[in-house]
Amino acid sequence: MEHFSAVQSIIRAGLNGDAKAVDKQVRRLQSRLRKAGSEKEVEVLERLLHAASETKELAPSRVEVSRSLVTGEELSRDANPPIDRETGAALCEIAFPSDEIVTPVHGATVGEAVEGMIEEWQSAALLSSMDVEPTKSVLIYGPPGSGKTLTAHYVANRLGLPLLTARIDGLISSFLGTTARNIAGLFSFANRYRCVLLLDEFDALAKLRDDPQEIGEIKRVVNTLLQNLDERRRHGITIAITNHDRLLDPAVWRRFESQIHIDAPHSDAREHMIARFLKPVPASPATIKLFAYCLAGLSGADLERVCTAVKRTLALNKSPQNAASVFDALVGVLSKAPHLENQAAWMLTEDLEAFVSLAANDHDLRLKQTEIGEATGFGQSKVSEIKQKKRHLEVAERFVAQ
Ligand SMILES: Nc1ncnc2c1ncn2[C@@H]1O[C@H](COP(=O)(O)OP(=O)(O)OP(=O)(O)O)[C@@H](O)[C@H]1O
Ligand SMILES: [Mg+2]
Repeated sequence: MEHFSAVQSIIRAGLNGDAKAVDKQVRRLQSRLRKAGSEKEVEVLERLLHAASETKELAPSRVEVSRSLVTGEELSRDANPPIDRETGAALCEIAFPSDEIVTPVHGATVGEAVEGMIEEWQSAALLSSMDVEPTKSVLIYGPPGSGKTLTAHYVANRLGLPLLTARIDGLISSFLGTTARNIAGLFSFANRYRCVLLLDEFDALAKLRDDPQEIGEIKRVVNTLLQNLDERRRHGITIAITNHDRLLDPAVWRRFESQIHIDAPHSDAREHMIARFLKPVPASPATIKLFAYCLAGLSGADLERVCTAVKRTLALNKSPQNAASVFDALVGVLSKAPHLENQAAWMLTEDLEAFVSLAANDHDLRLKQTEIGEATGFGQSKVSEIKQKKRHLEVAERFVAQ
């Protein structure tokens, strides 16, 4: 039987329970099938790999949070959130734990910080032997669209607790006297129930301080918040989120036991997100790498937007779902992007051959000519020819000059 040795290797890896090796051997078989012209079989295997990665992404297990550490009543679905007495607007939104929660993608440092916090709750008994408690207050900061809110939802969900989200700017009333009352109302609601309190857009508070009028009143508001944050430690967990960490003064900063900085995703995290956001489009690792290459510097939210636009293009053009049309769709989407700061993305839209030359000559990208050939639809021999000419060097000068 043809390809028997590849099938044998897959079975061996499967029996050893080594998912990574199975993946690698299936990729090997795919490349042999491709060479033999069996594109249909390659696609079937691609779909199988996709389905497997989807199940791997199922939400991880919940942690049982001790009642002595997070106190209060169970929050029922018909509980009414507190409201601003002047406007009647709700002071927070309530999200209950759900099986559909998305696991955020982070690089190693952030991933370990987030999982570490959850693990502390899992090992609360161990911690108590040293007379310490799990972390109850975290400040998450980073640029827009980096997954801060998503991460807060994920943490609450892993802990099996409802999440109360209050936007600080929503608490700030045009009548400052009401603001202090709103803050007190919010915290007393949060402390009454077992929940995670999320203070989103936390920097709104700091901005308020710059207002030269109302200085005394604002101090009072900030103090109310600080006191409530201190008091809250006895009741439950608080997560605060800000885009502008520099705006927060040390007194606020100190209130949080741990700080997590989420930045624009590095290449591994980008690839992981792109693979997720492109689903159900079957995209090979080489295609995903090329996407991640062009989309360096983008936030998770931006990556999602680009991938969604690519899928729209593919659907509307009724394109065959092969690597070349996925790549074409990316070129189309990026061509419409207003401003591209990334040289690879810019070259992709300005001069395709220069882009291929850039990718083929970039050793850090670690893509073989065959892979670039397949992912772009150029084919290996054309890529080899383009690579020699190094056209990207001269085009790069235009990028610098622009
Ligand atoms: N790290 C990530 N992992 C997975 N998905 C992400 C990530 N970052 C962003 N996303 C996607 O982008 C969407 C928006 O992310 P989110 O609202 O959490 O960002 P944010 O950092 O809170 O942004 P903002 O500062 O604008 O409020 C998410 O729902 C998700 O689909
Ligand atoms: Mg947010």
